[in-house]
Amino acid sequence: MRVTEVALCFATVLGCCCTLQVFYYLILSETAVFPLWGHRKTGIILFWAPPKGSAWPPEGLKFGEKCTVTYNRNQLRRADVVVFHYTSFLPKDLPWKHSRRSDQLFVWWSSDNPGDVKQNLGLTNSDLREFDNGFFNWTMTYMNDADVVRSYGSRWELINQLEKGKSVVDQIISDKTKIAMWKTDQCNGSQNARMRTGFAKELMDSGLKLDIFGDCLGSKMTDHPTSKQMKAYKFYLSFEDAVHCRNYITEKFWDNALRNDMVPVVWGPTKEDVLAVAPIHSFIHTDDFESPAKLTEYLQFLDQNDDEYRKYFRWREDESMTDEKMIQMIQKEHPDIRVQGRTLGLCEKEFQNTGYKTVHSIVDDFFIRNRLECTEYMP
Ligand SMILES: *[C@@H]1O[C@H](CO)[C@@H](O)[C@H](O)[C@H]1NC(C)=O
Ligand SMILES: *[C@@H]1O[C@H](CO)[C@@H](O)[C@H](O)[C@H]1NC(C)=O
Repeated sequence: MRVTEVALCFATVLGCCCTLQVFYYLILSETAVFPLWGHRKTGIILFWAPPKGSAWPPEGLKFGEKCTVTYNRNQLRRADVVVFHYTSFLPKDLPWKHSRRSDQLFVWWSSDNPGDVKQNLGLTNSDLREFDNGFFNWTMTYMNDADVVRSYGSRWELINQLEKGKSVVDQIISDKTKIAMWKTDQCNGSQNARMRTGFAKELMDSGLKLDIFGDCLGSKMTDHPTSKQMKAYKFYLSFEDAVHCRNYITEKFWDNALRNDMVPVVWGPTKEDVLAVAPIHSFIHTDDFESPAKLTEYLQFLDQNDDEYRKYFRWREDESMTDEKMIQMIQKEHPDIRVQGRTLGLCEKEFQNTGYKTVHSIVDDFFIRNRLECTEYMP
């Protein structure tokens, strides 16, 4: 074959492919069934790629009542929702915009705070501004005003999942043999981490008996204590490695402290943010104390006074307590705080959705409207 013949042959093959593809596209869009909002029976959630460093749902998992998860991009046209974790897409690797259905939702997902997101995106060189004005429909973050709120925990779950009642609290109190613990895997790797370590050190210096799990401040204990070990402590240092990030309250607060029957001592989030989501009178905030020494004094006082300590578990004493009731109690005490109620998961939210929406700017939503001390990542 001469060169021109090869070229001709190549062109024919390419042409055929193109025709086939167009044909495929037309057939697919005609035969696939896309029920209108609210009339659907099931939904498909396509995750564009697994997120780096986060837990992700496996292929085929039931997500909510009616949805299933896929990572198969061939499902793009059938998917009702396409989720992009912030670490898992690049501007040059995105769905072809002509194949986008107008009722399909593109969702931006982050569980990390702005400082960490900035740092991680810096590493992959993507620029979120490229997605302003019309790429994403929803955000899915831990923030109270996200379209889909995917927080690290909730008052609603705790009230419905934890054992309640007077005898439960009796048992919790009588199991306590130690005062305070802190679990950390990030001792001095960033400015925020050094600040919180500094606070913990001042508590110890002022006389608090603090057990540290993890390699920090000279401790040699494992950073994987068992739940039984943790439940022996009265207080847990729920210290985030982010300062004043809107609504950034992580598993330290929910899983480590409250689910292990310890009273969280909070550092990092603002008190207002914690009040909006926490069970009533369930935590201590470091901002309420003039100095670490004063806080130590208070913790030691509670350690010596079971009745006073027990007040932090009052929310669990009443077996008939519901989230609705508690929201009213919190609202009465703090009329100026917008108390967060139960939120819907991605699938539920999708099925309830009634309108079209586009996120004007992720950068504005997630970074600009946050506080400076949160968005500036200091190595
Ligand atoms: C920083 O933390 C590591 C453990 O995470 C520890 O080995 C090291 O001694 C610490 N450095 C300082 C200056 O505290
Ligand atoms: C999602 O955003 C796109 C682009 O702005 C828009 O065309 C589409 O109608 C939106 N879909 C929904 C369901 O909001």
